[in-house]
Amino acid sequence: MNNRIRKAVIPVAGLGTRFLPATKAIPKEMLTIVDRPVVQHVVDEARAAGIEHFVFITGRNKGVIEDHFDSAFELEATLERRGKVKELEALRADLPLAGATSFTRQQGPLGLGHAVWCARDIIGDDEPFALLLPDMLHHSHGKGCLADMIDAFKKHGGNHIAVAPVPEDQTHQYGIVGVEDVKAKVSKITKMVEKPAKGTAPSNLHITGRYILQPTIFNLLANQEAGAGGEIQLTDSMIALSRLEPFYACRFDGDIYDTGSKIGFLLANIAYGLSRSDLEPELRREIERLLES
Ligand code: G1P
Repeated sequence: MNNRIRKAVIPVAGLGTRFLPATKAIPKEMLTIVDRPVVQHVVDEARAAGIEHFVFITGRNKGVIEDHFDSAFELEATLERRGKVKELEALRADLPLAGATSFTRQQGPLGLGHAVWCARDIIGDDEPFALLLPDMLHHSHGKGCLADMIDAFKKHGGNHIAVAPVPEDQTHQYGIVGVEDVKAKVSKITKMVEKPAKGTAPSNLHITGRYILQPTIFNLLANQEAGAGGEIQLTDSMIALSRLEPFYACRFDGDIYDTGSKIGFLLANIAYGLSRSDLEPELRREIERLLES
């Protein structure tokens, strides 16, 4: 078993129904937070953690995501001719290495578990991998959520899930975990439940959408039946896997934005804008002016 986390799975097949009409013709993952598409922010987080290969689980009408991660010959030639060196260098710095991306189609909206299962051949059966849900932006004040998880993985091995507290009245919207030590940065998971009924959650720690999983998960996903919401749930297979291998919860201390919701998307734009030195002074002034008016 190779123990380096080299590959990341990024499911991008979702229809974005929470964000219509914006997502009628544009994939939700291509909506921008400041000047970078949502999916680019997630790839940035993965690259900062040392990920070398990106596996996108796509669907119909998502071709533009593939174009985004390719070089754009006409654009680059034009920037070069016009002497726009800074813009050209920025585009080239973002470009993944040739051969470092894979795109495979999910073929139907059968759930997150099914999306992850679609990556089985590309990941293979002898290395653990990262999984990042692009809706959830993890704005870190340190190295990054996945980078922290990989540090914990190097120490403990096994499987890891990023978690963070949510208000009690929101636990039914997420996967929730119970842990041995609620205060620890990294703690063994004792219980997992997908979208628990109100009042039944084992804690207020929700699964935030960053995972490190062993390839054993693919065998479990292969036999899986539909669970909550009639979808093949990743959490159901993780529960089965947790009976075979250790699972750890890694607490994420930064800010999380669900960009699939309108409020989350707007807040992410403001927060990421305020953290940019070229935008912060004017943006802050304008927000204050709006709030006063
Ligand atoms: C998925 C997972 C859930 C997790 C959530 C984070 O749910 O199944 O465990 O808490 O992502 O966004 P979904 O948002 O697809 O309903």
